Amino acid sequence: MINEYFYNVATLFLNDKLSFQERLTDFINFISTNFQISRCSLMLIDYNDLSIEVYASTNPKIVGLKRKLSDVSVSTMALIDNEALWIDIESRNYFQHLDKSKYESSSSLTIPIKYLDKKLGVVNLTDFVNIEKFVNFDINIVKQLVQLIGPFISAQISQTICTEYARKLENKNNDYIELDKMKSELINFIVHDLKSPISVVIANLDMLLYDELTEDQKNIISLALEEMAKLQSMVLNILDVQKLEEARINILREEVDLYNLTEQKIKSLSGLLSRKMIKLDLKGNPLNLFIDGELIGRVINNILINAIDHSPDESTISVTISEDDDNGIISFQDMGGGIPEEMLDKIFDKYFQAKEEGRAYIKTSTGLGLTFCKLVVEAHGGKITAQNKNHGALFTITLPKSLKIGIH
Ligand SMILES: Nc1ncnc2c1ncn2[C@@H]1O[C@H](COP(=O)(O)OP(=O)(O)OP(=O)(O)O)[C@@H](O)[C@H]1O
Ligand SMILES: [Mg+2]
Repeated sequence: MINEYFYNVATLFLNDKLSFQERLTDFINFISTNFQISRCSLMLIDYNDLSIEVYASTNPKIVGLKRKLSDVSVSTMALIDNEALWIDIESRNYFQHLDKSKYESSSSLTIPIKYLDKKLGVVNLTDFVNIEKFVNFDINIVKQLVQLIGPFISAQISQTICTEYARKLENKNNDYIELDKMKSELINFIVHDLKSPISVVIANLDMLLYDELTEDQKNIISLALEEMAKLQSMVLNILDVQKLEEARINILREEVDLYNLTEQKIKSLSGLLSRKMIKLDLKGNPLNLFIDGELIGRVINNILINAIDHSPDESTISVTISEDDDNGIISFQDMGGGIPEEMLDKIFDKYFQAKEEGRAYIKTSTGLGLTFCKLVVEAHGGKITAQNKNHGALFTITLPKSLKIGIH
């Protein structure tokens, strides 16, 4: 008989066809029927607002009723004592005075529901049909049955909390995605509007250089031009990284001499190189490839600027054009101390910039330069790698000679 009770209650709580609420109600009805108790209810604690709420009852009207844990009641007394509370006719008189629920009954049994050290709620039994027959033996069985449902209830509460957290996290995540989209749109809007004025300023500064100027004036204008070129490169990187990621950019392939293209880019940086007295050593031979000259030119420019940026004064940057059967290869070796090993696999990530101690000035940069390079090279079906060699960084780009690979 006793085993049957335990078996039935366990089966009831393992029945996943029933809702949590239904299982609790069935449990209450089960106790009420088998132990002949007219009024039974099950209440659970809500630790958020320190209240206790009726989840199931033989009187459906009181389901959902909530009261504060701080109210004096048989439930809170049992929870404070952390053990079953038996109230008979004498103690009832005392209790009725304090308990605002005022059960109109001669006796009641309140059993805390617990799991490990956590108190989850109480089961309240009132109005025993035949109180004489409800002896210690029955009390113990009911107590054990209530004990048995503790883990089930605890698991359900944990699941509810997890689901609630997951829902909140998902909402937050959606908010962030939306915010991120709005931010990107705003940045793009601003950046896009910067493109034209920058080109106008560059063109005008360039024209100024053809005037009769003193050496000092020339230097000032050259410096302004270099800074504007950096700004232009940054703006284009921001716009193009997004376009490349969305595959919205056309790779306009034409026959380009990689050696000649590199030479042009080096020339355009002559002011920057001479200011740091850096020697640029270009080796190799003309090499015609079918590539987008404008985009690959900007890749070369980005890598050269990085190399110049990291090179000490009076050092050498070696650029080598070579080829194997399938690819054209261009490599850039500087003497700038290289990239910290742990960051080697991150430098191509969006917005990644290694922290550089002691930088006294604010760099005009976004950490998108190498991301742009990688996307452009890969859109050509090629590869870009970085490693540390000869006390500096070595960047190598391979571009396939065959047009069949990586056509966009
Ligand atoms: N030649 C190099 N030597 C040492 N570190 C380098 C070199 N090139 C790149 N890095 C490291 O990789 C990081 C990423 O480079 P990337 O070109 O993407 O960004 P950035 O140069 O910081 O900014 P941006 O190119 O947008 O102006 C740099 O911040 C730097 O830490
Ligand atoms: Mg850069």
